[in-house]
Amino acid sequence: MHKDFKGWLKQHEGRAYELHEKHVNPVFVKMLRTIGFDKGYTRGEGCYLWDSAGNKYLDLLTGWGVFALGRNHPKVKAIMSQLIDQDMPNLVRMECSLLSGLVAERLVTHAGAGLERVFFCNSGAECVEGAIKFARCSTGRQEIVYCDHGFHGLTTGSLALNGADFFRERFGDLMPGTRKVPFNDLEALERELASKKAAAFIVEPVQGKSCEVVKDGYLAEAQRICKKHGTLLVLDEIQTGLGRTGRWFCFQHWPDVQPDIVCCSKILSGGYVPVGAIITTAKVMDCVFNSMERCVVHSNTFGQNDLAMAAALATLYVIEEDKLVENAAIMGEYAMTRLREIGKGCPFVTDVRGKGLMFGIDFARPRESLKLKMAWDMLHKLNFGVFGQMIIIPLLQKHRILTQVAGYHTEVIKFLPPMTVTKQDMDWFLAAMQDVLDETQRFPGTAWDTVLGLAKRAMKA
Ligand SMILES: Cc1ncc(COP(=O)(O)O)c(C=O)c1O
Repeated sequence: MHKDFKGWLKQHEGRAYELHEKHVNPVFVKMLRTIGFDKGYTRGEGCYLWDSAGNKYLDLLTGWGVFALGRNHPKVKAIMSQLIDQDMPNLVRMECSLLSGLVAERLVTHAGAGLERVFFCNSGAECVEGAIKFARCSTGRQEIVYCDHGFHGLTTGSLALNGADFFRERFGDLMPGTRKVPFNDLEALERELASKKAAAFIVEPVQGKSCEVVKDGYLAEAQRICKKHGTLLVLDEIQTGLGRTGRWFCFQHWPDVQPDIVCCSKILSGGYVPVGAIITTAKVMDCVFNSMERCVVHSNTFGQNDLAMAAALATLYVIEEDKLVENAAIMGEYAMTRLREIGKGCPFVTDVRGKGLMFGIDFARPRESLKLKMAWDMLHKLNFGVFGQMIIIPLLQKHRILTQVAGYHTEVIKFLPPMTVTKQDMDWFLAAMQDVLDETQRFPGTAWDTVLGLAKRAMKA
């Protein structure tokens, strides 16, 4: 196997779905097969995926926001290969690694805002878990305030900050001491923090499950309220961070925002090695690690591993060198402007929103056409949340564009293009959206037949 891994894998070609059905997640397999997403991709390069028949797909899902550089970026690959060839003394533990120091230096330089320290971990949820502990430790308080519709991960601490009941149901009691406030509501935040029991207020600048963006001035005011009541402001930039929204960090779209803690992950991996980074002020981190005895009081086995750090360093270098933050801003603006124009012609579209290359399109019952209202009602009587399939299925089957509905029980379709996306790719996507939105207005028609069939099958399952 080690001499010809490629050949060895070839012998197992075509077994993925059978293996997952038996040993991984049979219901997931069933879902993919039901909506025809069981493509069996065999190659990924840049913004594209290829199936075994050689068909090329534009990937606007990017592994839930991981592949901002596209897949298998040659510069990242070159750096990773050189690292493997160097036989580095990885994870010595009783030692400081140069690589993680260099990543930390670059991260705090791009973050600015008085953030000076970095704790490395292995995922987004682990960042949030760490941020909860750091905030509790440095304030001596217990409660964490979060937003309705927020998403911060699915481990029991981060799940306790989830704004949707669906994710919590049937998982028992979660971390105590959490309080929910409506998103973008400063009065509610002030009321909640006034008791002076909250260690932190955690918020995503663009909510991952809805693409709702914080209002102008919201973060600076939230920070003022937090300071007034002794609460730390934690920004979850796990999805928005590192250029996706057209700034290195999304909070930089607004002046005078100085969070106490920023979490980032996803993009930092370069699509190669899981990694997370909790970026904090010196005050926060130095409160946690406040004596030699406590110098590793919060730690993990794999944080700062050389592969993750090399992937992170390479990723930051490519974002800088290829001016991908700038490209995200330009392409995001172009896509959203055109999508808003296209959406005007479709009575189901209520909103196009987002920031940079994190944007979504929201659908609702139409106000006008009686026929389309009837179609909408018929579908929603059968199943809430299937309407989105009428967008994502033809996007994949007819236009070869991979997307996903933004969350459970929502009618928002979210797009997370790679930051390397070109105008040509965007035009491919926009022409496809025009066609797909036009199809939704043909009732009866094949698009409606497909989703009504799916909704009926879902009822029987
Ligand atoms: C905003 C946000 N926070 C936290 C997470 C959790 O990250 P992970 O899945 O790496 O644990 C995600 C993942 O999608 C996210 O989008």
